[in-house]
Amino acid sequence: MSLSQSKKPLLRVLDGETLTPPPFWLMRQAGRYLPEYRALRERAPDFLEFCYTPDLAVEATLQPLRRFDMDAAILFSDILVVPHALGQPVSFEEGIGPVLEAVRDLDDLRRLNSGRPEEVLGPVYETVATLKGTLPDKTALIGFAGAPWTLATYMVEGRGGTDHGHVKNWAYRDAEGFGELIGLLTASVTAHLSRQIESGADVVQLFDSWAGVLAETQFRRWVLEPTAEIVRHLKDKHPEARVIGFPRGAGALYGDYADATGVDVIAIDEAVPAVWAADTLQRGRAVQGNLSNLALVNGGQTLADETHRILGALGGGPFIFNLGHGVLPGTPPENVARLASLIRGWGP
Ligand code: CP3
Repeated sequence: MSLSQSKKPLLRVLDGETLTPPPFWLMRQAGRYLPEYRALRERAPDFLEFCYTPDLAVEATLQPLRRFDMDAAILFSDILVVPHALGQPVSFEEGIGPVLEAVRDLDDLRRLNSGRPEEVLGPVYETVATLKGTLPDKTALIGFAGAPWTLATYMVEGRGGTDHGHVKNWAYRDAEGFGELIGLLTASVTAHLSRQIESGADVVQLFDSWAGVLAETQFRRWVLEPTAEIVRHLKDKHPEARVIGFPRGAGALYGDYADATGVDVIAIDEAVPAVWAADTLQRGRAVQGNLSNLALVNGGQTLADETHRILGALGGGPFIFNLGHGVLPGTPPENVARLASLIRGWGP
C-alpha cells in the first residue's frame, strides 16, 4: 500500500486504529435528497443508463463530498447491475422501485442469457478509475456489490416490498437448484468486486440488505457461507483488499457473521445496541454504523443526542460513523451538514 493511501483516515480505522473523531460517510449519500442529484438524474434516459454513463456517475459520486466532505466516496452504481449484466431484464419504475423479470426455478435460471457481464459492467470500472484519479488523497474510495442472498431476493421476487415468500420457498424446496443461483452470484460478485479493486477501489462493501429475514440454518447457508467464500477469494487475489460486511437485520447472528466471514469491518443497522456492538463485535475490529436514517430526517435535539450516544459507545475503538441504512429521499441536506459538524466536533 502506498504512503498516501495509508494516511486516509478511513483506511487507518480499517486496519484497527481508533481515531477521534472517527471518519464518516453515509450509505446512499448520493441521491434524491440532493437537488443537484435530481437535476443530474434528468440528463439520463433511465436509472441504469445513469449508472453506466461514467461522466454522470462520477459527478453523482462527488456531489455529496462537495457539500459535506465525507471521509469516503462510494461509487455511484446499484446492486442490481449484477443481475442485469447476467442477462435478467431490470428496470426502475417511478414510485415502485426496481422491477425484474422474476427467476423462479432452475429452468428460468438457465434461460438467463449471461451474455458478457464484463462488457455491460465496463463503464462501472471506468467510473472507479476516474474517481481514483480525481479524489483528494485523504478520501477513501469505496466500491460495492449486493451480497448473493440479497441479489437473489430481487431476482426471484421480481421487486422489493414482498415478504420474500418465493425466494425462501425455493431455498427450502430445492436447495440444490437454489444453490446454483447462489453459486452463480457468488462468482459474479467476486469478479465484480475484484475488478473494482483493480480499478482503484480502496475498500469494498457487501450489502446484504435482506440478511435478517432468514432462519438460522438458512442464514448460515445463504449468507455466511457465500460471504466467506467471496472474502476468501478476494483476499487470495488481492492480499491488500479490505471488505466491509453489512448483514442488515442479522440480530443475534451478527457475532457469528463477524467471526465466520473474514470481513474487516462489521456494518450494523440501527437496531443493534451500540454498547453491545462495542463489547462483542468491536474488539480490535472496526465497526460501522448505526444512526437511524429517520433520526437524520427529523434532526433537532434527538439527532444530536443519538449521534453522541453512538459516538460515546463506539468511538473508543476502531469506528466509522455511518447510518444503519441508507439516506432517505426526504432528508433535509442541512441535517446532513449538522450531523457532519456534530461528528467533527466530538471529542472525549
Ligand atoms: O450509497 C450511494 O450513494 C451509492 C449508490 C447506491 C445506490 N444504491 C444508488 C441508488 C448504492 C450503494 C445502492 C445500494 C442498493 N441498491 C441496495 C443496498 C442498500 C439498501 O438500501 O438496502 C439496494 C437494496 C438497492 C436496490 C435499489 N436501488 C432499490 C430498492 C431502489 C429503489 C429505492 C429508491 O430509493 O428509489 C434503487 C434505486 C436507487 N439506487 C436510487 C439511487 C440513488 C434512486 C434511483 C433514482 O434516482 O430514481
